[in-house]
Amino acid sequence: MSIISIIGCGNLGKAIIKSALNNGVKKECINATIFNKNKLGNIRNDLNIKSIYDYTQNRRVIKNSNYIFLCVKPFDIKRTLLDIKGHISPNQTVISTAAGVDINYIRNIINRKNIIRLMPNIGIAYNKGVVGVYSDNVKHKQLSLLCNKLFRGSKIIYVDNEKSIDIMTVLSGCGPAFISFFAEKMYQQGLKYGLSKSVCREIITSTLITSSSLFNNLKYDEIIYQIASKGGATQAGLDFLIKNKVDEIYMRTLDNSYNRINNINKGLD
Ligand SMILES: NC(=O)c1ccc[n+]([C@@H]2O[C@H](COP(=O)([O-])OP(=O)(O)OC[C@H]3O[C@@H](n4cnc5c(N)ncnc54)[C@H](OP(=O)(O)O)[C@@H]3O)[C@@H](O)[C@H]2O)c1
Repeated sequence: MSIISIIGCGNLGKAIIKSALNNGVKKECINATIFNKNKLGNIRNDLNIKSIYDYTQNRRVIKNSNYIFLCVKPFDIKRTLLDIKGHISPNQTVISTAAGVDINYIRNIINRKNIIRLMPNIGIAYNKGVVGVYSDNVKHKQLSLLCNKLFRGSKIIYVDNEKSIDIMTVLSGCGPAFISFFAEKMYQQGLKYGLSKSVCREIITSTLITSSSLFNNLKYDEIIYQIASKGGATQAGLDFLIKNKVDEIYMRTLDNSYNRINNINKGLD
């Protein structure tokens, strides 16, 4: 396997490494950096990998890499790229996961052609993620070789328009947090009505698994129709949601996230 470097081994960087290890990539093929060297011990223990360093080693870490993953926050991208720009060779491929940072922005700084936008969610750590992939220069064959090696088991979605990556950021990048928000409220109510924590969690997790199985077979509104019988408990809940405009609020929630991504893009200097 080619060597991969993760610049920014935070939540997502760690998930990428876990996915790679789950899929049989050897530890020796992976190295990574973080900013704060005080965290190194914990991250090395968590991943069971020694080759994690602080940011002063960014240039050294990328030296022999085929794939350089940028997993820093969007507003750290410029500083990070300026640090490594003279050390990226034309044969190396740069892969950015940063929300709202487009390929042209990166290309203008590093003056390199091989750039990929990747939008995974943290489910990749368990081989159950969703990964959006776009490049205007790297060929599909190379994209699929890389993604199948690192993210087998996750759903890989190749898009031919960079804007789709921003939409995927909201739906699949942020999505698990939005769904978990509702799951957490169900959990709190389950405890309030007297379930034990473990039973409550089991019920909710199983119900979400049921829902995703139903999604594979039925349209969303068909599922609602089949469950919400007239005058019943589901319908009472749905009526309350609609009366209180939760449907509109939910759509505006997604708008807010999407606008935030556009604002990140506009705010980059
Ligand atoms: N989290 C997600 O679910 C998710 C999903 C899709 C996309 N993304 C994107 O992925 C990126 C990372 O998000 P995150 O949630 O993983 O953030 P995070 O947990 O804060 O991780 C960012 C990492 O970057 C490190 N860092 C900062 N400056 C650095 C430098 N100059 N050199 C090396 N490392 C540096 C930080 O080090 P310290 O830990 O020492 O501060 C931290 O480990 C963001 O651009 C985000 O838009 C995240």
